[in-house]
This record gives sequence, C-alpha cells and structure tokens, in this order.
Amino acid sequence: MSLNTNDNTTESTTAPDTFHLHCTINGQPIERDVEVDRSLLSFLRDDLGLTGTKGSCLEGECGSCTVLIDGVPFNSCVTLAGRVNGRSVTTIEGFAQDDKPAILQEKFLETGSVQCGYCSPGLILTAYALLQANPEITEEELIKGMEANICRCTGYTAIIEALRRARREMLK
Ligand code: FES
Ligand code: FES
Repeated sequence: MSLNTNDNTTESTTAPDTFHLHCTINGQPIERDVEVDRSLLSFLRDDLGLTGTKGSCLEGECGSCTVLIDGVPFNSCVTLAGRVNGRSVTTIEGFAQDDKPAILQEKFLETGSVQCGYCSPGLILTAYALLQANPEITEEELIKGMEANICRCTGYTAIIEALRRARREMLK
C-alpha cells in the first residue's frame, strides 16, 4: 500500500495474498503460488489447464465440478485451492489409468449418457468414489449416492443404466 501525500488519497498496490501450495494432481506433484481466495475449480482449469472439470452453477449445487480429494468427492467450485495442500486430487484427466474407471466411461458412452457432457466428469468421479468406498454397494445405494450430481439434459434414465452396467462389471 502506498500513501500519496499530495492529494490525501490512499492507493493500494498490494498483490492479492498468495499461498504456496504443494499437492498431488493426478499423480503428479504440483507446487504453485495461488491466491488464498482462489477456488480449486479455477486453479485446476485456469492455472493447470485441466478443463475436464466443468463449472456450471458455481454455488455447490450441481456437482458438475466434482473432483476427488484423497478419494472423496468434493465440489471444486466451493473448495479453496489452499484446502488441497498436502493432499491428492484426481480429476477426470487422471482418471482412466486402470480398467475400472475406463469401465465407467465406456458405460456412459454405451448408454448415451453423455449429451452436452457438462455433468459427465462429476458423475463418473462420484460413482467411482462410491464403488471404491464400498465393494458391497447395492444398485439402489449407488443411485441414491449420486443425488448431488445434476444432469440437465438426459432425464437420468441412460445415466442410471450406465451406473447399473458399470457396477455389475466393476464389482465382479
Ligand atoms: S459448478 Fe460446482 S457444484 Fe455446480
Ligand atoms: S449431459 Fe448435459 S448436463 Fe448432463
């Protein structure tokens, strides 16, 4: 901040507060300065170019921005980037690294569950987290667990079928 004594006005020249962030994104160590008020969604998309994570409502209501933090789904639009310090984040770009995530993606495509595609990354990551957390999960529990992820295009019939098919294959 500088004080201009000539006209008695006060002018701020201070850069926004930043935080030195260490985390792992899709298995890669990341170290960056990031503004303390920056959302994780913005950090992923704007700083790291990981645009597979979609922003829609930006209010924590739709789930389109879902990422996994240490394997747990979070809405990245209402999560500060600083909250992932020392933690591991998975986005849709880092997802298809083994067979099980690929099954989910395949079933979404097979059933026509991807129209505009805005909801798809969040749905897939949430479903994966639920299936990983509980290998005994029932079909009903899986579908109920997806309630926070909204799709504005499909009417859900195809998505539910994709979840059923993926569950059957992944829990074999
Ligand atoms: S964009 Fe984050 S919950 Fe809707
Ligand atoms: S496919 Fe468009 S919001 Fe789900």
